[in-house]
Amino acid sequence: MTVLVTGFTGKVGHEVAKSLKRKGIRIKCAARDVTKASNRYGDAYDFVQLDFANPATFVPALQGIEQIFLLYPPGGNLRFEKFLEEAKNRKVQHITYLSVKDVQFLPFIHHYKNEKLIKKQGIPHTFIRAGYFMQNLNDFLCMEIKERQRIFVPAGKGKTSFVDVRDLAEVISLTFQDSQQHRNKAYTVTGSEALDFFEVANKMTKILGKPISYTNPSTKEFKDHMLSRGLDKAFVNVVIGIHFPTKLGLAKGISADYEKLTGMKPTKIETYIKDYQNAWI
Ligand SMILES: NC(=O)c1ccc[n+]([C@@H]2O[C@H](COP(=O)([O-])OP(=O)(O)OC[C@H]3O[C@@H](n4cnc5c(N)ncnc54)[C@H](OP(=O)(O)O)[C@@H]3O)[C@@H](O)[C@H]2O)c1
Repeated sequence: MTVLVTGFTGKVGHEVAKSLKRKGIRIKCAARDVTKASNRYGDAYDFVQLDFANPATFVPALQGIEQIFLLYPPGGNLRFEKFLEEAKNRKVQHITYLSVKDVQFLPFIHHYKNEKLIKKQGIPHTFIRAGYFMQNLNDFLCMEIKERQRIFVPAGKGKTSFVDVRDLAEVISLTFQDSQQHRNKAYTVTGSEALDFFEVANKMTKILGKPISYTNPSTKEFKDHMLSRGLDKAFVNVVIGIHFPTKLGLAKGISADYEKLTGMKPTKIETYIKDYQNAWI
């Protein structure tokens, strides 16, 4: 059994690949630029080209694949439905799809439509509806933390249910270890507590030993600043959209699915901050 890991060079895909490898499950890692990925990760992984915007890459990427860890990347012109049709044609036996917490109440986002498309194809699946990634702090929030010692994001005073992507990867790899048990199920995976960004800034301050603040910018202030830094407008709008439910107080729900599935407690944000502290030096 070979699992195709999409989004391998990103936050979740990479952790999923590591977790599957540790469990001895055969994987093939998808990347848009195989040469770049091979240069970066060496020969520890077996790569295949896959670009969701380029249907010519679909059949070769699906060669010899029985199961897929599937994520929907940022960006436009993706031929996602076509990819799912091809997966069905090639008799893929299971897809574990990375979705988002509360997707069932968010009919206007891609994940809502994508879950429906996967069901429509009739491919056995597991939906992983994830909370807000802790690793956003060392990804798109990192630059402002490093350069200005501030968490700069328009999330108001709302709490959000942070999850460590390493915990997500653990649950995702379980779904491939026993796909029958997790067939056509949806799990909501969060950490054990919802926090607002003032609390996160306080915890970072204590652990990193330097003051980090949360400046609670308005949406306009955030947008103007990010555009003046040269960030892509579409990306800035996505970041605003991700934090809007938090601002409205709608992102604080906690789920026990991680503990039920793994028998372990979810990673606390303090552990995450300690483990990743070099990212903010
Ligand atoms: N951030 C959060 O808090 C959060 C919470 C819940 C759910 N999610 C969902 O998580 C997903 C993103 O996961 P992530 O944060 O791990 O990703 P990420 O770190 O943003 O990385 C994106 C990955 O997608 C790949 N990619 C980009 N365009 C592609 C294309 N056209 N075809 C094939 N691959 C492509 C990239 O590979 P290359 O560029 O190397 O080709 C990269 O590996 C999204 O669907 C998001 O909605 C995020």
